[in-house]
Amino acid sequence: MDTPENPSSAQNDPPPKAPTPVPAPAVSSAPASTPGATTAPVIAKPITRQAPVSALPPEEGMDRRSFLKWLTVGWAAFAAIVAGYGTLVMRFMFPNVLFEPKQSFEAGHIDDYTVGEVSERFKERFGVWIVRDAEKIFALSTVCTHLGCTPNWLPNEAKYKCPCHGSGFYKNGINFEGPAPRPLERFRISLSDDGTIIVDKTRKFQQEKGEWTDPESFIPA
Ligand code: FES
Repeated sequence: MDTPENPSSAQNDPPPKAPTPVPAPAVSSAPASTPGATTAPVIAKPITRQAPVSALPPEEGMDRRSFLKWLTVGWAAFAAIVAGYGTLVMRFMFPNVLFEPKQSFEAGHIDDYTVGEVSERFKERFGVWIVRDAEKIFALSTVCTHLGCTPNWLPNEAKYKCPCHGSGFYKNGINFEGPAPRPLERFRISLSDDGTIIVDKTRKFQQEKGEWTDPESFIPA
């Protein structure tokens, strides 16, 4: 009998069993906002930089292009104005001056010319042929009496031939072919005190007016 008064019976009882462990309930994944839930660490994504299409907003970029265009136009206009003023200044400093050949010139001496010669020494500079025949020396104009071209002296044909319309003149200046209506003109010719021949183009002599007999239209030689 198990009584305190009979300890021998307590020593024969089996030892108490250990308590069976109860499995813990499954934990559901609660959202981060759920109180008591664990916050997962945030991993930063790498930032990918893209080239900007335009540094400025579309309307602002357009304004800048317009400004550059007008700036270019303005500079071009300014350069044109400066060039124009520069041209005017240059024209003022260097005006077009017409250098007329001298109307009177010295043509050497009588002995400088041979009989029968047509000298072209003064053709280019003064527009004059000096002609010496058996009796005299005279100064003949190189201007064609048709329309003003310059004839050529052809010694082999003993004539002046105009290249423009074919007029021909004898050595003395008389016209004989082509459209020229009258002879070539002659200029005043004289001798200075020292025997120098002086040709004066301000005075002309026309054959059709009977002026070739004027003593100022030739030098006896
Ligand atoms: S200009 Fe000399 S022939 Fe006409």
